[in-house]
Amino acid sequence: GYYAEKYRPQFHFSPEEKWMNDPNGMVYFDGEYHLFYQYYPDSTVWGPMHWGHAISTDLVHWEHLPIALYPDSLGYIFSGSAVYDSLNTSGLGTNENPPLVAIYTYHDAVLEKEGSDIYQTQGIAYSTDRGRTWTKYDSNPVLKNPGIKDFRDPKVRWHESSEKWVMALAVKDHISFYSSPNLLDWIKESDFGYNLGAHEGVWECPDLFPLNYNGDEKWVLLVSINPGGPYGGSATQYFVGSFDGITFTTDQDSTLWLDHGADNYAGVTWSNVPGEEMIFLGWMSNWAYGQVVPTEKWRSAMTVPRKLSLYQQGEQIRIKSEPVEALNSLRSEATETPDMELTNSEYTLKKSIDLAEINIDVVQASMGVLDFTLENEAGESITWSIDPGKNKVIFDRSKAGNTSFSETFNEAHHAPLIFDPTAFNIRIFKDESSVEIFINNGEQVITELFFSKEPLNKLTIKASGEAQLKNIKIYPVHSIW
Ligand code: FRU
Repeated sequence: GYYAEKYRPQFHFSPEEKWMNDPNGMVYFDGEYHLFYQYYPDSTVWGPMHWGHAISTDLVHWEHLPIALYPDSLGYIFSGSAVYDSLNTSGLGTNENPPLVAIYTYHDAVLEKEGSDIYQTQGIAYSTDRGRTWTKYDSNPVLKNPGIKDFRDPKVRWHESSEKWVMALAVKDHISFYSSPNLLDWIKESDFGYNLGAHEGVWECPDLFPLNYNGDEKWVLLVSINPGGPYGGSATQYFVGSFDGITFTTDQDSTLWLDHGADNYAGVTWSNVPGEEMIFLGWMSNWAYGQVVPTEKWRSAMTVPRKLSLYQQGEQIRIKSEPVEALNSLRSEATETPDMELTNSEYTLKKSIDLAEINIDVVQASMGVLDFTLENEAGESITWSIDPGKNKVIFDRSKAGNTSFSETFNEAHHAPLIFDPTAFNIRIFKDESSVEIFINNGEQVITELFFSKEPLNKLTIKASGEAQLKNIKIYPVHSIW
């Protein structure tokens, strides 16, 4: 049947076939969320990039549309963003019918091969038919390369107070900010990040946006890095600070990671969303093994969409990532599970879990290690251990079945524990080959892939201290396809 292949995600976006990486051009317009993505239609590994395209009215169910952007004489179409140019500042639409404008990186593979440094430039394309067809601007590129190899992934937004467009661009080991009155002419404003954050890999796919924090406006800068992620391979770090239309500043002294699992990369937010909500979507994979995971017809999926907000944790202002509410529409009726108390014991939930959302409130009277294990009769399992003594959450998928495709995949991931382990809520989204764990509505998120031969259909919870489990709800969820 449709989307019934082994490992095929049932409530996450994945292309019908072939290779996908980063989400691109995410913009809301006229009742539709557009999702473009790095796509290679000729193979299940990375190759000359196109922009694949899909739309959704609820962020949960997706309709595939034809490829939006093909490579041309200026190069492959790398990552970028899209905006609604409501004032027609670009002149690419009309005042009555303003355009959607996509801003993306051209990657000239011929120049790259010749040993040139200037093979990445920024180009634009526009649509005046609700994103159904796209025309490339006839004077591309709009931003030339200044002589730096890594010069890519433009994320553009309208900056209200200075009434101009601002672009965050990944430039090797820092982010450069540009501005423009019309999306066509760009000037450089500033650089950020030379000595801040993680630097063990190239900086990619930035996103810059405001978020309300206790009535104040803060600005958040997401920066993906590959390699150099804390769990091997690629990962996304972020900075909280301020932005005046010219410079971004932060007083943050440690590196913060958006997700504490291995499989959330290159994620950014939708522009133009009603109510200025910041909705995030990431590529649910990792460059360390993304091209060799054991799926056959297609490769990779996106995370569930997450609403971002800020909260305080100790001295730190952090991002909270909550699954979007529309995901609740996938639930079928929850089975009643009585509250329980575990004292140095374990319990396996009766309900068989296949595609599920699981909610549990945990209160620990005397704290010990708490293990959550998804497993099956075939002896396959994944486990995450909340260990207050070590102040860690440790995720282990080494017994999850097929792990032989990559050595990195087998390593346990030791994440810092950044929530109060005496009382917390855990929400687990379990699909065919992924698990997303949201603690306290996304104060800590862990996104991980696994490839078990049989479905992991049982959840066992083991406490080495005294733990009460309350409000246990297991919702079987529907497929979106
Ligand atoms: C991130 C990335 C981007 C680039 C794209 C190419 O995963 O490397 O920097 O634009 O993928 O597909």
